[in-house]
Amino acid sequence: MKEKNKYGQYMTPIDVADFMVNLIKKGKASKCLEPSSGRGVFIDSLQNHNFKDILGIEYDKVLIQEFSNVINKSFITCEFKNEYDVIIGNPPYIRWKNLEPELKKELGSDELWNKLCNSLCDYSSIFIIKSIEALKNMGELIFITSDYWFSTTHAKNMRNYILENGYIECIYHFNETPIFDGVRASFVIFKFVKDTSKSPTINVTKYFSKKKLNRQILDSIKDGSNCNVVSFEIPQFHKDENWILAPTLTIQQINKYEKSCNNQTIGHICDIGN
Ligand SMILES: C[S@@+](CC[C@H](N)C(=O)[O-])C[C@H]1O[C@@H](n2cnc3c(N)ncnc32)[C@H](O)[C@@H]1O
Repeated sequence: MKEKNKYGQYMTPIDVADFMVNLIKKGKASKCLEPSSGRGVFIDSLQNHNFKDILGIEYDKVLIQEFSNVINKSFITCEFKNEYDVIIGNPPYIRWKNLEPELKKELGSDELWNKLCNSLCDYSSIFIIKSIEALKNMGELIFITSDYWFSTTHAKNMRNYILENGYIECIYHFNETPIFDGVRASFVIFKFVKDTSKSPTINVTKYFSKKKLNRQILDSIKDGSNCNVVSFEIPQFHKDENWILAPTLTIQQINKYEKSCNNQTIGHICDIGN
């Protein structure tokens, strides 16, 4: 029988980690944090890109043996506040109901979880929120996560929290592209900057292919030569809204269509299954 993946261990391919590290604009002297470092792919990539001041946090002690700069601790209990220039990684995605009892207990006494999340939120939410807390002003957060929280109602508080603390610089959306072995979901790489003084447009890149990502594909996505890519800019998202990755004109058309439905939603017309 397959053993339970109790800590949400899905390791990021090095090509993807390198792609994400290349999104960092901060200098090489930056203080960097990987809050759920696993087997250390982001730490390796940061080091290969000449970043020197790097700390990893990893809950599973089996994974950290070969690193001197990784602490065996839960990120949830780390009290980092305005300390890091760069936070990068792939936080664990675990549904509340599947969380190990000790991790559930930790969340139960976590102020930010209790304020912004609920039992329908998954574990990666608190990593996003706490990473924003841990960033210095102007710091950069780059994560790869599932895209589900862009549009679910129960992630609204978290989306609002993100917008209250800075802006989104770019989003890469991979639709159904396989990235992690054995996982079928849509993933996003997003970059957030903790700066409330600006509201620049967001660069959105959507990739449509079921071919597994590799370095060559990622390079062609980045330099704009990939024919399976659609790119556009959108204004920053608004409070209380879902984050829809579509050009402004498309969103206006959807809004117009919705209005013309006389306050009816699609649920008035048909049954919706999930
Ligand atoms: C999706 S994996 C990603 C690992 C690594 N960042 C990578 O990209 O290859 C998430 C990692 O988070 C670790 N983890 C789970 N709960 C944690 C916690 N509370 N604090 C720190 N790490 C945790 C898991 O053991 C796992 O290694």
